[in-house]
Formats: sequence, C-alpha cells, structure tokens
Amino acid sequence: MNKISIAIDGPASAGKSTVAKILAKKMCYIYLDTGAMYRAVTLAVLNNGISPEKADEVAALLPSIEIGFEQGKNGQLVFLNGADVTEAVRQPEVTNNVSQIAAQEAVRVDLVKRQQEYGKHGGIVMDGRDIGTAVLPNAEVKIFLVASVEERAERRYQENISKGIMTDFETLKKEIEERDFKDTTREISPLVQADDAVKIDTTGMSIEDVVNAIENVVNA
Ligand code: C5P
Repeated sequence: MNKISIAIDGPASAGKSTVAKILAKKMCYIYLDTGAMYRAVTLAVLNNGISPEKADEVAALLPSIEIGFEQGKNGQLVFLNGADVTEAVRQPEVTNNVSQIAAQEAVRVDLVKRQQEYGKHGGIVMDGRDIGTAVLPNAEVKIFLVASVEERAERRYQENISKGIMTDFETLKKEIEERDFKDTTREISPLVQADDAVKIDTTGMSIEDVVNAIENVVNA
C-alpha cells in the first residue's frame, strides 16, 4: 500500500498527539508534532529575552533556531539547538505565550516550510492546527478532533500531574479557552476544519476508540 499523509487538526488538548503517535507507530509512519515546533520557537524567544510581541526581533531569531526530534525511551524528544527541551516546551510560560508567537507571519512561513519538508515523501502523521488547510492541503486523510472544554481541561490536568507540573483546574480551563480563541481568530491560517476533513468528537471516547475511528477513515 502507498504511504499516505494523515493530517490531524483540532483545538488544544483534544487528544491529537496521543492518537497521532499511536497511529504512526501502528502504520510505521513518521510522527510530527508541529505544536512542539511552535513551542520550541517560543522557548527560544523567551530564552533570548525577546518580548513575544516584538515580531521583528522574533523573525530575526528564526534562522538561528534549529529544531530536532529523536525517539527516546519514553517517547519522542524535542531538541532546540541541540539541547533536549522536551519538558521545557510544556512549561506554563511557553504554553501561555505560544499562540502569540504562532500568529506571526514570519514564524508560520518558516515552520510550515520545515513541516512540508518532513512530509514531502508521505508516510507521515502530522498534528497541529493548520495541517489539513495549509501544511498538507493534499493529505489523503484529514481528521478534525474536538472535545468539550471540560474534558480537554481534565485531560491536560491529569497529564500535568503525571509530569509533576502542578496547575489549578479552573486556571487550566481558562488558559485552554484563551488559546483556542487566539488560534481560531488569528489572521494567518487560523484553526478551522478543512472542507474535506472528517470531524470526530472525542468527548467520552477512549484513546483506543479514537484510534479505531481514525483507522476506519484511513481504510475507507
Ligand atoms: O499542539 P500544541 O498545543 O502543543 O500547540 C501549541 C500552540 O502552537 C497552539 O496553541 C497554536 O498556537 C500553535 N500551533 C499552530 N499551528 C500548528 C500547531 C500548533 O499555530 N500547526
């Protein structure tokens, strides 16, 4: 069977990366977490003492930012200029600034180009916000994953606890809503369901059920 491209988009904490990783492993495909790339740029901006709203300074930093991925013992590792930043990119300071960085044209142009390079031979599962609409508009399979904000906040809350990051549930819910608002209302490539994407509401569904639902679309 030909190696296809699978685009998985949706709002924050809808379970995209969890199911994308499982699917990629089952199909022996590459998995690309594009959110981690926007997070790595955000971390680089903060580490360099640049204010996230200074788009010119952010743009000037981009050529010096090298982002890499490696398979670790407990999952995929994210590297920024050779340093392991897997945990650092999940810290609240990065999470709360990433949407502002991701709304900037220079950042999107640069990262979309890098993502298309990863995807040019197919055999990839990519998750993000604009994969089906901008990064891989010709992807054979496009999925739009959604879930209620309560469920998404609960998932992120449990995930944070397991990583030792302590957060208040209501604060987390508010942050998710704010990030969704910024991601859906930005001018360039806002989060929107592609016309040819299949929408799956994962509220109340197990991870296995979601993976099965996507496999059904792949095999249809
Ligand atoms: O998927 P994750 O929650 O890690 O993404 C972090 C942020 O990166 C999103 O809230 C969004 O602002 C941005 N993003 C994006 N386009 C993508 C992936 C992520 O704008 N393809």
